[in-house]
Amino acid sequence: MRVIVSVGGSVLAPDLDSKRVEAYADCVETLRSAGHEIGLVVGGGRVAREYIETGRDLGGNEMALDQLGIGVTRLNARLLIAALGDAAAPTPPESYETAAAALRRTEIPVMGGMVPGQTTDAVGAALAETVDAELLVYATSVSGVYSDDPEKSADATRYEELATTDLVDIIGGIELSAGSNAPVDILAAKIIQRSETRTIVLDGTDPDAVRRAIDAGEHDGTEIVP
Ligand code: UTP
Repeated sequence: MRVIVSVGGSVLAPDLDSKRVEAYADCVETLRSAGHEIGLVVGGGRVAREYIETGRDLGGNEMALDQLGIGVTRLNARLLIAALGDAAAPTPPESYETAAAALRRTEIPVMGGMVPGQTTDAVGAALAETVDAELLVYATSVSGVYSDDPEKSADATRYEELATTDLVDIIGGIELSAGSNAPVDILAAKIIQRSETRTIVLDGTDPDAVRRAIDAGEHDGTEIVP
């Protein structure tokens, strides 16, 4: 199966720990040995937020801050590339077509951010659409899509399954209420909707959860179906 896995920076590199990155690389190699084609996207995590806050204190505008964030996502991508060795394309692709070409050469593309005004959630959705992936997995620090912010509301329930259209409605509602955290960004939700990509949002703290979702179809997250 051709799968794009978008690994949140807070999952891959909450702090700089080679063991965590290695565990993700091992998981990807296991999936490849099982016959899956894997493309990866990596987020920025805490380090990106610290750069962005520092840049904001220095008076940087939002475009400049996004560029700082993109820089950090690409650094994190390079950590995963280092762990994957020859199996990965040597640099984070800076276009979707370059990533698709790597996949055709049976290399693993590991992308970071692309352009200001979005997050790597949208990169994952766009890469999945570019390569006609059968599955897109968001390995996040939250265990799926909830009816409300699970950290703020005790009544928040996790959706086991959602239609792509409902995802767009839910994310749109969350993003309107200031301060709350959306599980994926609105552009990602829209791309998933138009490309009709089957998508799973799960807690990726343990990379084996990603392996089980892809290889055995078992997970405790939210499945988004066209
Ligand atoms: P992330 O994708 O990690 O953002 O990119 P996030 O969702 O805020 O982080 P997590 O999932 O909680 O860890 C980090 C930052 O990089 C910039 C944005 O500023 C984003 O917040 N970025 C990233 C872009 O501007 N464009 C991109 O394509 C990707």
